[in-house]
Amino acid sequence: MDKLRISGGRPLEGEVRVSGAKNAALPIMCAALLTDRPLALANVPALADVATAGKLLGQMGVAVERDGGRMTLDARRITSRVAPYELVKTMRASVLVLGPLLARFGEARVSLPGGCAIGARPVDQHIKGLQAMGAAIAIEQGYIEARAGRLRGARIVMDLVTVTGTENLMMAAALAEGTTVLENAAREPEVVDLARCLAAMGAKIEGAGSDVIRVEGVGRLEGADYRVMPDRIETGTFLAAAAAAGGRVRLTGAAPQTLDATLAKLREAGAKLAVGEDSIAIEMSGRPASVSLRTAPYPGFATDMQAQFMALDAVAEGTGVITETIFENRMMHALEMQRLGADITIQGTTAVVKGVGRLQGANVMATDLRASAGLVVAGLVAQGETLIDRIYHLDRGYEALEKKLGALGARIERVK
Ligand code: EPU
Repeated sequence: MDKLRISGGRPLEGEVRVSGAKNAALPIMCAALLTDRPLALANVPALADVATAGKLLGQMGVAVERDGGRMTLDARRITSRVAPYELVKTMRASVLVLGPLLARFGEARVSLPGGCAIGARPVDQHIKGLQAMGAAIAIEQGYIEARAGRLRGARIVMDLVTVTGTENLMMAAALAEGTTVLENAAREPEVVDLARCLAAMGAKIEGAGSDVIRVEGVGRLEGADYRVMPDRIETGTFLAAAAAAGGRVRLTGAAPQTLDATLAKLREAGAKLAVGEDSIAIEMSGRPASVSLRTAPYPGFATDMQAQFMALDAVAEGTGVITETIFENRMMHALEMQRLGADITIQGTTAVVKGVGRLQGANVMATDLRASAGLVVAGLVAQGETLIDRIYHLDRGYEALEKKLGALGARIERVK
């Protein structure tokens, strides 16, 4: 199994181009199921999760063609409406085929995702919403068995803010009869990106980006050409790395307007930022100042950036208090960072991080995607060698991470 070896303690310097957003590409790929016309995408990142989504759609009969960042999906001939356990267990976002399959074909059989390393992550809100739209849903042998005639628009108040839940229901509503109103909807930029792609396909959606989304169902959707938005979490990860390790880094092809909460915390940590229309430059000299934060749904501070900021706080001047409110078990990286010499006390879902003068390299293990990113940031600031195990987590969500960091002067390599 591949590992990542980092010799840390050097500042980062140079320019990096941001990839397309994983969490926008995945729902947008699933939206291809809503139409019998080709959906042509650009800026699709080369990630393990994107490959998994391609495989999932492929085994349903979708013709998937890939050429660099371009991908064409053609769901004209669907031969299976099943998302099997083998694929869903490797990627929970597979549940995003449920809404589109049900809306277009009136049936779907999707494996229940089951447990997850970062928290329970049930999909009850997806199910509840589809039921409100007239679907009959049963759980049988670990599968969500869903059936419906044409889905009917409904007013759905979600119990909590769920990103993929909002996306699943928005896709289903696009082909439903009548109007659907999603209340307490997720406002994440990836929801907006999906809504834009659906609009390009002919869907009638208002309010994406606010907490009330109104979808007027249409009889059919067309194909479209669509460019996936830049990855705000990848962007934030590079910025956090530069803030922790010091140096000057410029990110291009980014969407700065989706990163307000992250940028505010970086400024608080003492970073100098220059924000352009699609670029962000960061300059950091000296030790960062500790920042305290609470994760929250967008536009709050992203849970997907929490681990990277814990690494920043680990070497900062002062004490930072980090509270995770989205997932109940997303602090596993703290224990690994302790192995690097970080002074972190965990109380429930809060971490108290006392900055130390230096971290020291050690062997650590990645437990999930963003935990891995946090460990990479910690490894970049630690003196000596850090060896990160289980980096397949990293490959799920970061395109060519070691190449991009290498281009910034980091000493980082993949080892067998
Ligand atoms: N929840 C429920 N019931 C539901 C759905 C969610 O109780 O039916 C709970 C979850 O257990 C969690 C909270 O609601 O406590 C929010 O979860 P959400 O549904 O928003 O998460 P998600 O849609 O499964 C997406 C991203 C995650 C990101 C979260 C939060 C995708 C493919 N994944 O997950 O990204 O952390 O939103 O912003 O969009 C990652 O990229 O590493 C990643 C985990």
